[in-house]
Amino acid sequence: MRRRAFLGTGGAVLGAGALAAAGWPLLSDYVREGRPGKLLTSGADLPKPYRTPLPLPRVLEPVSKSATTDAYEITQQAAELEILPGLRTKAWTYGGTFPGPTIVSRSGRRTVVRHRNELDRPGVVHLHGGHTPAASDGYPTSLILPADGSYDAHRVAQDMSGGSHGMSVDHGAMDLAAGARTYTYPFEQRAATLWYHDHRMSYTGVAVWMGLAGFHLVHDDEEERLPLPRGARDIPLMITDRSFAADGSFQYPWVDKELHTPGVTDAYMNGVLGDVILVNGAPWPVHEVERLRYRLRFLNASNARLYKLELDPQPEGGDAFVQIGSDGGLLAAPRLHDALEIAPAERFDVVVDFSRYRPGTKVRLLNRFGDGSTAEVMRFDVGAGSPADDTKVPRQLSDVPRLDPGRATVTRDFHFRGSSAGWTINGKEYEPGRALARPKLGRTEVWRFTTNFHHPVHLHLDHFQVVSRNNRDPGAFDHGWKDTVDLRPAEAVEVVTRFTDYAGTFMIHCHNLEHEDMAMMGDFVTE
Ligand code: C2O
Ligand code: CU
Ligand code: CU
Repeated sequence: MRRRAFLGTGGAVLGAGALAAAGWPLLSDYVREGRPGKLLTSGADLPKPYRTPLPLPRVLEPVSKSATTDAYEITQQAAELEILPGLRTKAWTYGGTFPGPTIVSRSGRRTVVRHRNELDRPGVVHLHGGHTPAASDGYPTSLILPADGSYDAHRVAQDMSGGSHGMSVDHGAMDLAAGARTYTYPFEQRAATLWYHDHRMSYTGVAVWMGLAGFHLVHDDEEERLPLPRGARDIPLMITDRSFAADGSFQYPWVDKELHTPGVTDAYMNGVLGDVILVNGAPWPVHEVERLRYRLRFLNASNARLYKLELDPQPEGGDAFVQIGSDGGLLAAPRLHDALEIAPAERFDVVVDFSRYRPGTKVRLLNRFGDGSTAEVMRFDVGAGSPADDTKVPRQLSDVPRLDPGRATVTRDFHFRGSSAGWTINGKEYEPGRALARPKLGRTEVWRFTTNFHHPVHLHLDHFQVVSRNNRDPGAFDHGWKDTVDLRPAEAVEVVTRFTDYAGTFMIHCHNLEHEDMAMMGDFVTE
């Protein structure tokens, strides 16, 4: 029945596909096009915005350090959080908080994280943006079983069956760890804003919605030499939308509230949107800033929602956001934006100079793609003083080598489609162990993504560079090293890739988590 109803969605999607035949839509049409997802309205009363101070996730202390390695431990556990004032929300957390603790690593030093699973269901941890060997990359069937022993291979298989979208798993191929798993991150990669989140096959959307996401920042010497804002003026901002029942619990359109059958109800196959905007886990928070430069690391950790972030008021002269980095770290040179369009999983690292505002200005961060409660995100309250600022944004930030698409020997096409067959890549629903591509390590390749709907396309293992969008130059938000690129209906994006170091199985998928869970994912195998 779910399958049949999905045909309806497929029909709507094909409507967008017909656009492709008529030629590319103008980018400005994007705003008028239906964006992905469906709003799940909260049963709880929504709080007034700008009452809660912005929480800053705590930085995790290593449990041990050696000459080469920092070791951490995280317990995945249920926690009762007060997200909406006066209400209790049962969350699934990394270490008792949402977002989880921030891990801070140093490029070139190994980080080892042992995750113990005290939740009542299996989990998988993926470090998004990590240049990580396959064994620690969080393959969707490399599960950590609950420490209480409630799951065995048989029960895992039961939870995979009865799915709404025909994904099949060779259960013998599952890689099950009892209670805990240790992930090793060599961090042979440059400074960047990474994040970690659950990646369990068919259950990623609900797991992240319930709270399983955190920041993982990487620093290096090159970044440290720059006179950028740091310390309390370097702020990671995880933006998510959520929906709450009247009793404060997270609402999600699960087909099975007990979560032994994956999937969401038909109406939400295209993604789940909430009406409460959380930044670092707090609804429409407020943060006091001085009239100084701040580095803001925006992460869109929402399941399906796209944002167009804009400051209100704009500073005089515009260009409020000085972008210094993208998913994969520093840009070669800063880029100026009045607004930032940010799709699920993307990161924008920007500097905002609050000295451009008069003392006492209350600066709202708006979402121009939202309306009503989702049109506002947070507020910065600018202080009264005029402190001296010893930071700046240099004209040159980093040496970013350009991958030359002219040197590519292989071009691969990936079609992201919604149809009566579900959400597919090249007509195929996800099947663990089936490789959609076998790139050779060290070789430059061009990967071409086409869509008939909105899909933020993400690659594991290495960052890529966008070569073209709709056969023209990359868009305003495509610069620098990326690991996720947003595609809109009927668009084509070419990226240049070069996978390095690690042979094994990695993922290509849509980062709309409901699309991902409903099979828009594939393996690629580096060799
Ligand atoms: Cu952030 Cu494979 O995902
Ligand atoms: Cu990833
Ligand atoms: Cu998608």
